[in-house]
Amino acid sequence: MKSFEKTLRILITAGPTREYIDPVRYLSNDSSGQMGFSLAAAARRLGCDVTLVAGPVALPTPAGVKRIDVISARDMQCAVTKVSAKTDVIIMAAAVADWRPSRTSRAKIKKTTASSKPHSIALIENPDILAELGKKKKPHQILVGFALETEKLERNARAKLAHKRCDWIVANLSTSIGARQSSAILISADGRRTPLPRLLKEDLAVVILSHVLG
Ligand code: C5P
Repeated sequence: MKSFEKTLRILITAGPTREYIDPVRYLSNDSSGQMGFSLAAAARRLGCDVTLVAGPVALPTPAGVKRIDVISARDMQCAVTKVSAKTDVIIMAAAVADWRPSRTSRAKIKKTTASSKPHSIALIENPDILAELGKKKKPHQILVGFALETEKLERNARAKLAHKRCDWIVANLSTSIGARQSSAILISADGRRTPLPRLLKEDLAVVILSHVLG
């Protein structure tokens, strides 16, 4: 892959977010963070200035990468908003929780034995960080989203690409969650479709960057 004349500034998000119900319970998405961390490591090796906004994951920080740890989608939104204006490429590999409980209890919610009725939690929508970035995208910026689907992979991925105004979307199946390897289909806003072979996520990251950075 080529190295760059000007240092490219890349912002990558990785891992899940947690939306707390009370101090010990939360809603989240299943995500190991491996894909985002592999992208950060690969981008750094290419000489990019890399900021990694990471949800709660047990992964070491790749050498030379600036890491900002966050918990919730709103924390991630804050961190991304602070850094995004000063970046050339943004890759949203994080599995952001789409909803959060409408309130977080300060104390652990106690089990009551009095009722056998189902309990319910009111949920409200989290901000869509990628869609917000898409709306305020600067002309020089490249915006990359991920679409992890259980069905209608390409159709859903293309809808997200358009709705969130991305330049690229990486479509992959939910079988890649937590796996060391993954395959994907890379789709560009101008209609190019590139199936990527099943590879270790470290190698897939290099291939994705070779397309996105050109
Ligand atoms: O969850 P969804 O399938 O819509 O995610 C598609 C893309 O949008 C991913 O790149 C994800 O990081 C991003 N996203 C986001 N904010 C959300 C939900 C998803 O930035 N609230």
